[in-house]
Amino acid sequence: MVFCRPGTESENVIHLIDNETIQVKCNRSGHTAVNKTFEFERVYGPSNSQESIFEEVCPLLTSLLDGHNVCIMAYGQSGSGKTYTMLGPHSEGNITFSLESQIDEGIIPKATRELYRLISNRSDTHSIDVSIVEVYNNEIIDLLAKCNRGKLGVKLEIVTTLVDGSDVPLLAYT
Ligand SMILES: Nc1ncnc2c1ncn2[C@@H]1O[C@H](COP(=O)(O)OP(=O)(O)O)[C@@H](O)[C@H]1O
Ligand SMILES: [Mg+2]
Repeated sequence: MVFCRPGTESENVIHLIDNETIQVKCNRSGHTAVNKTFEFERVYGPSNSQESIFEEVCPLLTSLLDGHNVCIMAYGQSGSGKTYTMLGPHSEGNITFSLESQIDEGIIPKATRELYRLISNRSDTHSIDVSIVEVYNNEIIDLLAKCNRGKLGVKLEIVTTLVDGSDVPLLAYT
C-alpha cells in the first residue's frame, strides 16, 4: 500500500483533490508556476485521524500471518507527515513502545501491538525479526547496525540478485 498524507507544513504546496489524487504547486522563483497532479492508491489528509488510517491498513496484518508479503510505505516530501503518520506525535524524541495505546500514536506501534495480539490467538508458533532501514537521498542506512565507533547507523549497498531483482544483504535484526 502506498499512501500520501500532506501534513501541516506542506499545506501551501500540496492540495488534496480526492482520495487518490494530490496536486503539487511547483512554484520556483524565476520559473513559471506549474501544478502537477499525482495519483496514489490512497491519499489521506490532515482531517483523517491516525485511528482511521490504521483501520484501513490493519487487514494487511492478517494477510501477513497468512503468508503474504506486506509493505506499508509512507511517501511524500519532507514535512508532509510521514514520520507523524508512522510513529506518532512524539516522533522526534526517543521512541518508546507502550503496551497501552497512546493518543494519536502511529501505524508502527499500533501494528506491532496488533500483530502480537493476532499471534496470541493462533495455535501455530511464530518468530518475529525486526530490521530498520532508512532510505534517504539514494542511500540505504541500517539503523540497527553500529559503526566502528559504536554509533548506530551503517551505510549499506543494494545488490542485484539472480531472483527477485535486488536485496540489501547483511541487515542487522533484533
Ligand atoms: N496529521 C497530523 N496532525 C498534526 N500534526 C502533523 C500531522 N502530520 C504531520 N504533522 C506535523 O507536521 C510536521 C512535519 O511532519 P513529519 O511527520 O515530521 O513530516 P515528514 O516525516 O514527512 O518529513 C511535524 O511537526 C508533525 O508533528
Ligand atoms: Mg520524517
